[in-house]
Amino acid sequence: MRLAIVGVTGLVGGTILRVLDERAIAIEELGAFASRERAEPLAYRGRTWPVRAAGTNALRDGRFDVVFFASSEDASAELAEACIAGGALVIDNSATFRMRPGVPLIVPEVNAAALRPEHRIFPVANCSAILLCVALAPLVRVAGLRSIRVATYQAVSGAGRAGFAALEREERAAFSVLGDDSSGAGRAQTPSPFPAPIFRNVVPTDGEFDAGGNTREECKLAAETRKILSLPGLHVAATTVRVPVLRAHAEAVFLETERDTSVGELGRELTNADGVAFHRHGIVTPRDAEGDDRVHVARLRAEDGSRRHFQLWLVGDQLRKGAATNAVQILELLSGNGMLSQQSAAAS
Ligand SMILES: NC(=O)c1ccc[n+]([C@@H]2O[C@H](COP(=O)([O-])OP(=O)(O)OC[C@H]3O[C@@H](n4cnc5c(N)ncnc54)[C@H](OP(=O)(O)O)[C@@H]3O)[C@@H](O)[C@H]2O)c1
Repeated sequence: MRLAIVGVTGLVGGTILRVLDERAIAIEELGAFASRERAEPLAYRGRTWPVRAAGTNALRDGRFDVVFFASSEDASAELAEACIAGGALVIDNSATFRMRPGVPLIVPEVNAAALRPEHRIFPVANCSAILLCVALAPLVRVAGLRSIRVATYQAVSGAGRAGFAALEREERAAFSVLGDDSSGAGRAQTPSPFPAPIFRNVVPTDGEFDAGGNTREECKLAAETRKILSLPGLHVAATTVRVPVLRAHAEAVFLETERDTSVGELGRELTNADGVAFHRHGIVTPRDAEGDDRVHVARLRAEDGSRRHFQLWLVGDQLRKGAATNAVQILELLSGNGMLSQQSAAAS
C-alpha cells in the first residue's frame, strides 16, 4: 500500500507508525510529511524516508492510496481535497470534517456499518467521544439511552507535544527552587496550550467559550457522541477538564437509560463488548490504560437503587484508541470492504 502521514513528527503521527507496525500493515511506499522539511530522514521498518513539508502538489502527485492527517485543522482543510483529487482516501484526526453531513464518523466497535463505498474522507472522532462511545454502545444496545452527563479528566498529551512540554517545563520550574538546576531557563519554549498552569492544578476549560458558556471541547464531545451513536436527540451535558496526567484520559459518566435495566445486565453487556475491559470490582486509573487499546470501565453502579440511572468511570489511552488505533482500524475496515483495492485500480 502507498501510504502517507501528514504530521508524522507529532504524537499522534508517531503513534500511527507504531500501530501500523504492530498490526503488520503492508507498506510499499511511505510519504512522511510535517509542517517543514527535516534534514534527518525518518527511519522506519529498516528503511529511511525523507520528511517533507506537506503541500498540495506532493500529496496530490504522490499517488497515495491512503493519507492519514495527524496535524492541524488548517492543514486538513487546506490539503485533504488535494489528496482525494490525487486518488487517495483520507483518514483525518482533526475536527475539520467530523460534523459535515454525509461524512461518516466511524468508531469500528460501534458503527462500522456507517461506511459506504462512495465515502472518501474518514474523520477520526474527538478522543473523549471515542472512549465514551465504546463504553456506551453496549449499554445503548441493551437498554437505550436518554441522557448522559460526563466530566472528563484529560491528559496533557491530548494537546500534543506542546501539552507534554508545558507540564514538563512547569514541573522543572517548581523543582528548581529546591536546587534542581534543570529548569530549562534560557531554552526556546513553545507556549503552553493551556489557559492556566497545569502542574499541580486542574483546568476546566480549553480557553474558548460559546455563547452558552460551553467550551469547544465540550461542544465537540456532545455533538460527536450523538453522531457516532446515531442518537440525534440524546441529551448530553459535559464538563471537560485538563489534569496533570501524562497519558490516558478518564471520564466520570452519569447516564439515564430508556428502559429499566440493572447493574447485572449492563455489566454482562460490557463484559462481552468489543474493545472494552470491564472491571466489576475495584478501580482503574489512567496509568493502567497507557499503551492499551481497550477502554477500561469500572465503578458501574445504580444511583440510589434506580433501574434507569447509573454511573460509571472509564479510562482509555487517547493517543491510541482515541486517535491512532481508531485511525488504523478505519484503514483495516476500508481494506476489509475492498475499498483500497478499488483505489489502487482507479489510480493505475
Ligand atoms: N494528542 C492527542 O491525544 C489527540 C487525540 C485525538 C486527536 N488529536 C488530533 O490529532 C492531530 C495531531 O495532534 P498531535 O497531538 O499529534 O499534535 P503534535 O504532537 O503537536 O504534532 C503535530 C504534527 O502536525 C504537524 N503539523 C502542524 N502544522 C502543520 C501543517 N500546517 N502542515 C503539515 N503538518 C503540520 C507537526 O509538524 P512539525 O513537527 O513540523 O511541527 C507535527 O508533526 C490534531 O489535529 C489533534 O487535534 C490528537
